[in-house]
Amino acid sequence: MIGQTLKLRGIEKRYGNVRAVEPIDLDIEAGEFVSIVGPSGSGKTTLLTMIAGFEAPTAGTILVGERDLTMVAPNHRDIGMVFQKYALFPHMTVHKNVGFPLKMRGRSRGCAPGPRVDAALQLVQLSGFEHRYPHQLSGGQQQRVAVARALVFDPPVLLMDEPLGALDKKLREAMQFEIKSIQERLGVTVVYVTHDQEEALTMSDRVAVMNKGRLEQIGRPDELYANPCSPFVADFVGTINFLQGRIAAWNGAILAIRIADRLTLEVPFEHHHGASFACGDTVTVAIRPEHIAIGPEDPTDNQSLGGVLTNLVFAGASTMARIALDGLAGPELRVVAPSGPTLPLERGNRVRLTISPDKVKIFNNPEAPKS
Ligand SMILES: Nc1ncnc2c1ncn2[C@@H]1O[C@H](COP(=O)(O)OP(=O)(O)O)[C@@H](O)[C@H]1O
Ligand SMILES: [Mg+2]
Repeated sequence: MIGQTLKLRGIEKRYGNVRAVEPIDLDIEAGEFVSIVGPSGSGKTTLLTMIAGFEAPTAGTILVGERDLTMVAPNHRDIGMVFQKYALFPHMTVHKNVGFPLKMRGRSRGCAPGPRVDAALQLVQLSGFEHRYPHQLSGGQQQRVAVARALVFDPPVLLMDEPLGALDKKLREAMQFEIKSIQERLGVTVVYVTHDQEEALTMSDRVAVMNKGRLEQIGRPDELYANPCSPFVADFVGTINFLQGRIAAWNGAILAIRIADRLTLEVPFEHHHGASFACGDTVTVAIRPEHIAIGPEDPTDNQSLGGVLTNLVFAGASTMARIALDGLAGPELRVVAPSGPTLPLERGNRVRLTISPDKVKIFNNPEAPKS
C-alpha cells in the first residue's frame, strides 16, 4: 500500500477580507477515501489547492506521514492532483501529458519514464492511446489521462477536484466505480471534492461537509445521515423535512415540542449535538421522509398532523408522497412509505401523519437579529 496519513492543523486561507477557508483540523488515515462536499464557493477548491501546494495557507500546517509539507513546492510534495478542468496540455500527446510530472520531478533521468507512463495508462485502460492528442479523445478518455497523470509518480496522496463534473450520468457512474477500484488496488489516500452528495456517499469512507469556508461536520455517510450536527448538514446529506416548533416543556431528558398548535412531540434530548434549549424557544425540527407514517384522516386523533396528499410517486418498493400540511405555509412535507396495500391513498385525499419522536433532530434557530 502506498497511501500515507494526511493531517491538517489549523489550515486557513484569507484573500484580503474574504475568508475562503476558516481554520480546519482534519486527520485522514492512510488509504482512506474522504470526500469533501459543499455548495459552490464553500472553499473546497481552495482547501485542495493548499494541500497540493498551489496556494500558500494564511496559517496552519500540512503533514503527509510525518513530513511537514507546508512550505514545500508542489512538485516536491508527492501529491497527485486531478483538477476540476482536466487541464491537459493540448499540444502534448497522451504519453507526454502523463509523463510530464515525472519530468517536473526529475525522475525521468536515471529511470526511464516509458514503463511508468505505460503502467499508468494501463491502470486507466488507455493503453494504445499514447500518441493521440487531447482533442482526439472523448471527455471520459481525457479524464482518464488526467487520472493517469496524477498517479504516474506513485503519490501516497491523490487529490481530485470534481473530476467527473463534466461527464454525463452513465459515464460518471462507470468512472466512479473505476476510480474507487484503482484507489483500493493502490491503497492511495484520496481527498475527493464533489458537489454531488450521492457520489460522495457511494464512494467515500468518510464525508466532510463544508459550508462558507467552515468544515461543518465529518463522518461516515451513515453517521452524517443519522446524526447531522446542523440543518445544513441534514439537508445536504439525503432528503429531510424541516418544521418549526416551540419548546413547551423540558425535564432534562425529554423535550416537549409543540408543532402547528396541534401536535406535541416528546423528543429524547440526548440525541442532539450540544444544543441548549429553553422553554418558549422556537426550534427547527428535522425529520427524514421515512420516519413519518402516513394514513387516512382520523378526526378523533389529535396527536397527528393533518394535511392533503398533493402528489404520489411510485418508485418500486417505496412510494414518495408530498403533503400540504393544514395551517402551515412553507414547503410540502415529503414522506416515503412502503408501496402496497398499506397505501390505499390517492392524490387529493386528506391524510394523517405520525412522526416517530425518537427519530427527529432538534436544532436551535439562529438568534433573530436585535433591532
Ligand atoms: N484568488 C482568489 N481571490 C479572492 N477570492 C477567492 C480566490 N479564490 C477563491 N476565492 C473565494 O474563496 C471562496 C471559496 O472558493 P472556492 O474554494 O473556489 O470554492 P468551491 O471550490 O467550494 O466552489 C469563494 O468565495 C471565492 O470567491
Ligand atoms: Mg471548486
